[in-house]
Amino acid sequence: MQEDLFKRLVAHCKEYGFVYPSSEIYEGLGGVYDYGPMGVELKNNIKEYWWRAMVQMHENIVGIDSSIFMHPSIWKASGHVDAFNDPMIDNKDSKKRFRADVLIEGEIDKMTAKATKEVEKAAKRFGETFDEKMFRETNPRVLEYTQKAKAVEDRMNAAMKANDMADLKAIIEELEIADPDSGSRNWTDVRQFNLMFSTQLGNISGEEGKLYLRPETAQGIFVNFLNVQKTTRQKVPFGIAQIGKAFRNEIVARQFIFRMREFEQMEMQFFVRPGTEMEWYNYWKAKRMAWHNAITPADKLKFKDHDNLAHYANAAVDVQFEFPFGFKELEGIHSRTDFDLGSHSQLSGKKLTYFDPEINEHYVPYVVETSVGCDRMFLSVLTNAYAEEMVPDAQGEDANRLVLRIPPALAPVKCAVLPIVRNKEEMVGKAREVFDRLKPHFLCQYDEKDAVGRRYRRQDAIGTPYCVTIDFETLENDTVTIRERDSMKQDRVSISDVVRIVKERTDMANILG
Ligand code: GAP
Repeated sequence: MQEDLFKRLVAHCKEYGFVYPSSEIYEGLGGVYDYGPMGVELKNNIKEYWWRAMVQMHENIVGIDSSIFMHPSIWKASGHVDAFNDPMIDNKDSKKRFRADVLIEGEIDKMTAKATKEVEKAAKRFGETFDEKMFRETNPRVLEYTQKAKAVEDRMNAAMKANDMADLKAIIEELEIADPDSGSRNWTDVRQFNLMFSTQLGNISGEEGKLYLRPETAQGIFVNFLNVQKTTRQKVPFGIAQIGKAFRNEIVARQFIFRMREFEQMEMQFFVRPGTEMEWYNYWKAKRMAWHNAITPADKLKFKDHDNLAHYANAAVDVQFEFPFGFKELEGIHSRTDFDLGSHSQLSGKKLTYFDPEINEHYVPYVVETSVGCDRMFLSVLTNAYAEEMVPDAQGEDANRLVLRIPPALAPVKCAVLPIVRNKEEMVGKAREVFDRLKPHFLCQYDEKDAVGRRYRRQDAIGTPYCVTIDFETLENDTVTIRERDSMKQDRVSISDVVRIVKERTDMANILG
């Protein structure tokens, strides 16, 4: 999806009550968004899909809901106070702040895009005989762009790893990177910026009373590891799942709900015997990709190994999704070793070990983590779903439609009930009766305003998978038509079958592997 289409998707989200900019009447607040009536339904369904796949489908995974505020030492032990930084740079003329690595990545993307353009031109020129692999390996211009991109990427990764802020600045200067908005190249030095928001306890002044808003939900799981293990009598390997808010003072909060300052994570820590972590890491890679694939086409997803490992990880991979602005991280899967439990044990003085009866040994378990952003999941579902299409054999305003092909199990509204005319009391009464039958089972809408074609379009625009229409025949034989959103095909069914049909077709079990 190109930039224009992405803008239309963002506008659509606002127009149909999916996502609003936060504090809009006060000109908004950067990187913060509110979910509207349709948005909250879709988001809740995404969370339910994740929760059921992780907790309901695994006997050895249980859930918790830990607090956002935690003892400040937790963030010292986890490494976030010292190492949860991004390299930032200010433009002295525009006074705008940027992430140095993101500016450099932007240049790398431009080089890669130039190479791709050359390949596309050649593909057009040579037609069916075109051998892309050979062209990429031999064309001097393509080679120049790709080699340069690789060299810059390697140098940037090395600088990030070595904490070499001076070299990041040097790369920006050598590539003559300008402020994307003002064009100015008048940069400050690059400095590290801690991403945690802090606040203050009311009854303790100064540093002692400083609290952080959690930047990940994972630490609430680590510090409850023994509580959960003891109260549930789980045996290693077992997992703890949690969905909750996280906060990061992102330097650049851009691309709609992709990078926010307040967002939600769906995280699971899987505690394993030391030495088995790579086996479980590969297991969870496959499991999580299958979860995504159940609702997302395979060509829109890929794995990307991390070049720079976080301070707690010995292996890490992202599940990337092809967002409208390119392939980007949707989920992170990390092998976190015993770093977190080990460090909490050390700083708190409390033993966080597990006695493994199978091998008769006490140890600090290793952890494999899966962590997916709920908001990014929401954006990926909408990106996949959004379609502007021509309707075959239709004319006038019915000739085009905007449809959200959201997987039925995740759709905000499962079914709409539409009487074909609204000035006939008997028909409206029947439609209300059908609506009352459906609403205890799933979220439905009743709509009698405007021509039926228009009402179908309204439901298409919010992704409602089924519309039930009450017409003159209904009054004779208690049958209705049921219209399927994607094919627009209508079937006539008995009223007594409608609940069962919609339930079966929108059941989340259909996508749980
Ligand atoms: N506990 C590990 C952890 O937090 P992460 O890769 O920093 O790892 C996990 O974050 C996921 O959280 C990401 O894959 C992304 O989906 C989501 N996420 C991270 N920062 C975000 C932000 N600023 N806005 C929205 N989602 C974000």
